[in-house]
Amino acid sequence: MPFLPGAVRDAAAPGRVHSVNAILEPTSTSLRGRDFLSVADLSAGEVGRLFERAAELKAEDRARREHGAPVATPLAGRTLAMLFQKPSLRTRVTFEAGMNQLGGHAVYLTEDVVMGARESVRDVARNLERFVDAIVARTGPHEVVVELAAQASVPVINGLTLREHPCQALADVFTMRERFGDLRGRVLAFVGDGNNVYHSLALLGSMLGVEVRLAHPAEYGPNPRIVAAARELGEGTEARLVFGDNPTEIVRGADVVYTDAWTSMGQEAETEARRDAFARFRVDEALMDAAGPDAVAMHCLPARRGEEITSGVMDGPRSVIWDQSENRLHVQKALLVEVLGG
Ligand code: CP
Ligand code: NVA
Repeated sequence: MPFLPGAVRDAAAPGRVHSVNAILEPTSTSLRGRDFLSVADLSAGEVGRLFERAAELKAEDRARREHGAPVATPLAGRTLAMLFQKPSLRTRVTFEAGMNQLGGHAVYLTEDVVMGARESVRDVARNLERFVDAIVARTGPHEVVVELAAQASVPVINGLTLREHPCQALADVFTMRERFGDLRGRVLAFVGDGNNVYHSLALLGSMLGVEVRLAHPAEYGPNPRIVAAARELGEGTEARLVFGDNPTEIVRGADVVYTDAWTSMGQEAETEARRDAFARFRVDEALMDAAGPDAVAMHCLPARRGEEITSGVMDGPRSVIWDQSENRLHVQKALLVEVLGG
């Protein structure tokens, strides 16, 4: 599957679309057997369908936890391979627990089967497709997950690359929807690095008509190709992409103040330089006040408390960070059910 296909139009409402509710109107197109490497692989209507199913699965999970209500197991007998070249808490546990809760099984594979070292990506794909029904892969370079998807006959889900973190963005925008209802006119202000998480949020936010802002140091901006693709996805919606280097100005009037680590996995050699460059880009109580009284704080985690975000914000009343984290479970379960056709 090529990286960043052209702008995906809502199959339910092709052409110019002005209402965010219309944009999210679930479509009947199937995700069965499809790869999910980039947010741009989905149409807005498909996102709407995923959100609908995620809300159902969340309600079902609540009922199970609160009064032991029975749950459906649509993925009984299905297996998911999880190929992780980087550490993970949330992505690993939510996919594993999610498969288990849906009646299936997940196999976690780490450095001992590094793709391209012990055997080629092609050979890893050729084997796994004979054993399992789908693969979640967390790699460094995005090209590795693209190659894996091209070689494997089973669907491949991007569990994070240096370019994108699409499952994270789905959970984040689902969380915004829970919080705000209609996304129309909402503003998400990202403070920090124009990184993988920002890229996926810019793409998804643009597709759904959200204004996505970024306050970043000049030398740590986003990938221009992603920005161009996001702009294209946002055509006909109320979406805007806004950039600046002053966090206080960027967050003013925002509904969501979002941040992520200054140094992503794989960039550890740059940690010191980044700590200097990003020193002004910390989300603290004063920045939340600058955003406004109703703004909420988001972070994909893991957080370096005291660096990009203070504990006061993370643990304070304006944080929806733990909801965001929980929603990874529900949104990814919805994705698994749709992709595996349960
Ligand atoms: N947010 C997220 O993907 O966390 P992990 O790196 O722990 O999976
Ligand atoms: N930008 C971070 C996200 C971690 C979930 C990283 O890539 O390390």
